[in-house]
Amino acid sequence: MRITVMDNAREIGKAVGRMFVDAINEKPDITLGLATGASPIPTYKYICKACESGKVSLKNVSTYNLDEYVNLPRSDKNSYYSFMHEQLFDRTDIKEKNIHFLNGNARDTEKECRKYDEMLEKAHIDIQLLGVGRNGHIGFNEPSICFSKGSFKVKLTQSTINANKKYFSENPMPTEALTMGVGSIMKAKKIVLIATGIEKADAIAALVNGDVTPVCPVSILQFHHDVEIFLDKAAASLL
Ligand code: GLP
Repeated sequence: MRITVMDNAREIGKAVGRMFVDAINEKPDITLGLATGASPIPTYKYICKACESGKVSLKNVSTYNLDEYVNLPRSDKNSYYSFMHEQLFDRTDIKEKNIHFLNGNARDTEKECRKYDEMLEKAHIDIQLLGVGRNGHIGFNEPSICFSKGSFKVKLTQSTINANKKYFSENPMPTEALTMGVGSIMKAKKIVLIATGIEKADAIAALVNGDVTPVCPVSILQFHHDVEIFLDKAAASLL
């Protein structure tokens, strides 16, 4: 596990963005696992700029997003589908057919999860980008008694609802989501995690120095052979 502590989120965005641009230029048909939330926004900004100025092309890149809310229309501004289009996809030359999401509006969510897992199995994610929840969740894998292998429907914890409800001004925040399982996340060849702010310090300390336990899902990354972690000073303050 390699840890880099930087001054602020913007610097992290530049460093991680550069890493992604280099990786795409090296392998133009790369498969990326992508995350939502505030943490990856500066990284997506960097990639968009690089694409707009012709320094990289995403036309052969495939993406798989980690998670999506249940029963929130894709067109809602708070769906992760909308978020990704606004922050990245609409500002690059990526092809819509290469963009993959769990469908939180599927009538049969169990079937939807199995379908996504089959796609992930074939896709072989090269780089998985991750943020982390205050309670140590990755994707929407909340603290639990076991690590989940494949995708599943999760009931969000109060901690996650408290952290994310600020985005939902018009409609109430969904209390369920579909998420890739920890098993699928761990299959990525490389994992890059970004965490900023004091609210993430406990989760980061547990990830780096704690036991590997589903009570803190991010701790599983200790068992991955290629993990890079980018932190600001506040998120690194308990290390
Ligand atoms: C969200 C997402 C995660 C994200 C995390 C942290 O709920 N499901 O994928 O990593 O919480 O979000 P943020 O970066 O906004 O702190």
